[in-house]
Amino acid sequence: MCGIVGYIGKRQAAPIILEGLSRLEYRGYDSAGIAVYDGERINIAKAAGRLKILEEMTHNGETLSGFVGIGHTRWATHGVPNTVNAHPHYNKSETIAVVHNGIIENYIGLRKMLKEKGYEFVSDTDTEVVAHLIDYYYKGNPLEAITKVLHRVEGSYALGVIFAEHPDQLFAARKDSPLIVGQNEEGCFIASDVPAILKYTRQVTYVDNQEIVRLRGDHMHFYTVDEEEIQKESVTIEWDANAAEKGGYEHFMLKEMYEQPKGVADTLLPRIKDGEVVIDELNMTDEELLSVKKIYIVACGSAYHAGVTGKYVLESLARISVEVDLASEFRYRNPVMEEGAMVIVVSQSGETADTLAALRESKKRGFKVLGIVNVVGSSIAREADSVLYTWAGPEIAVATTKAYSTQLIALYLLALKFARVRKTVGDKEFAGMLDDLKKLPDQIEMLLSNKNHIQKFANRYIGAKDIFFIGRGIDYAISLEGSLKLKEISYIHSEAYAAGELKHGTISLIEEGTLVAAVSTQPELFAKTISNMVEVKARGAFVLAVTNEGNIEIEKAADYVIYIPETNPCFANSLAIIPLQLFGYYVAVGKGCDVDKPRNLAKSVTVE
Ligand code: G6P
Repeated sequence: MCGIVGYIGKRQAAPIILEGLSRLEYRGYDSAGIAVYDGERINIAKAAGRLKILEEMTHNGETLSGFVGIGHTRWATHGVPNTVNAHPHYNKSETIAVVHNGIIENYIGLRKMLKEKGYEFVSDTDTEVVAHLIDYYYKGNPLEAITKVLHRVEGSYALGVIFAEHPDQLFAARKDSPLIVGQNEEGCFIASDVPAILKYTRQVTYVDNQEIVRLRGDHMHFYTVDEEEIQKESVTIEWDANAAEKGGYEHFMLKEMYEQPKGVADTLLPRIKDGEVVIDELNMTDEELLSVKKIYIVACGSAYHAGVTGKYVLESLARISVEVDLASEFRYRNPVMEEGAMVIVVSQSGETADTLAALRESKKRGFKVLGIVNVVGSSIAREADSVLYTWAGPEIAVATTKAYSTQLIALYLLALKFARVRKTVGDKEFAGMLDDLKKLPDQIEMLLSNKNHIQKFANRYIGAKDIFFIGRGIDYAISLEGSLKLKEISYIHSEAYAAGELKHGTISLIEEGTLVAAVSTQPELFAKTISNMVEVKARGAFVLAVTNEGNIEIEKAADYVIYIPETNPCFANSLAIIPLQLFGYYVAVGKGCDVDKPRNLAKSVTVE
């Protein structure tokens, strides 16, 4: 959500900033802007809509000359996504420019105070308050003004600030919204995420909460909000810059679906050693694991869906009670948490505001938190007591595929680890499950190779009004994710229902020709799900079934069947989700939707 890029150095700032912003497009935005100091004044260019418009307006940055600047892609929270509300925002004399990611929660009070002091506001944003407040406190020392502002604002922020009076400096600060800084021989950079500056440097420093950075062309200084200088370590980004490129695929989403076999293998194989599941990162002895009485899984979006699967798998294999919660609910419901419980938060980005808040709430209550996280060094990774990384690599498409698949693997591994110490699975069964897990990458590859059939089928549904997904148990968890994939990128209304719940309302929505995708991978539930399929078919539905190879019985109740290869039922999600991802993708492509950047959505939801 919102992307920030800033540069100060020997090169023209605008082209670097625009290029950086284009690498952050995946975060989701609806307007963009840039501010560059040209030697005399700060010039700002802004445009509603895609970054392309801003690029064309400024001839790819050529019309904005200067060596220091800040840029922003805005995902509207306060005020509609128009040019006026786009960042950067000026102070009145246009000598200070600010970009911001996050929400200034007390902006109404601050706005009132500033208005009383004669400040005029041109936008509806909370950010403009920051520009005027810096102006209010600025008496010639930018660092002092910024620290004063940080003591006044409440909420979350990543900020980039430039001052016309100090063109040799660029300032950045952060609280609860991601921000990194980096440096090379030609200058220093700020950005919301690594891909924005990876082309220029691999040495990055993660800015921590309530820290301020003063960047000059050739060095950076870090400060606390009390203006005390601090030393910070940089880290080397190991991943390949190509990992964040489309590499010949039409969309990042398609590329990332094809990267699933690798992500799954990378997350899985190093953690299977000598026939055992070894998760060193847990930092827990078998005795400690045995003492865990209950597990809470907390997450948002697809990570929550992975958590729902995790609940079924952990309960089934390890016979441990699991509660799974949406982070936005968990954080405010004052949950009654059992002593001896462990909390698992699941997050691709490691920056999701609600998940981070749930983590903090759990820690405050004295619970140990394990993070299942994809982005190394992210806030959740840094604040969790231990981290089990998913090795999906950078994920750019808003609709997650490979990160979700690797989250499933992390949860299976945990379930098996718990099962082993709790002795709820026999040796032979355990060995068989490890074998099944190891087969998943090839089986996923095989399912992906079936994409043409799914594309053909998907093309029939580009005009659909509603599409339903049904399943029981793990199949319900798969349905939740299949339905989300479809609706978020194709804008077709879709719901996932626990198949047994259909009769309690949703079945009244079934009309002649409505597509119902029935997921049926759990042998003990086959007969039950078939009954539900028959019920919807009798009311005119066209039934697509996703089931296990050999379950030909289902053909009596389904109009179209996709078979998945044999695996342990606990791991079926990893296979059944593949055709559903492809289905959602091809419906969206068929409709001409902007698959990688669906409207109104953000990849990393850093505000609640
Ligand atoms: C957004 C993304 C989803 C993601 C969810 C949680 O809504 O579009 O794909 O599942 O956030 O994000 P996280 O980074 O915490 O997994």
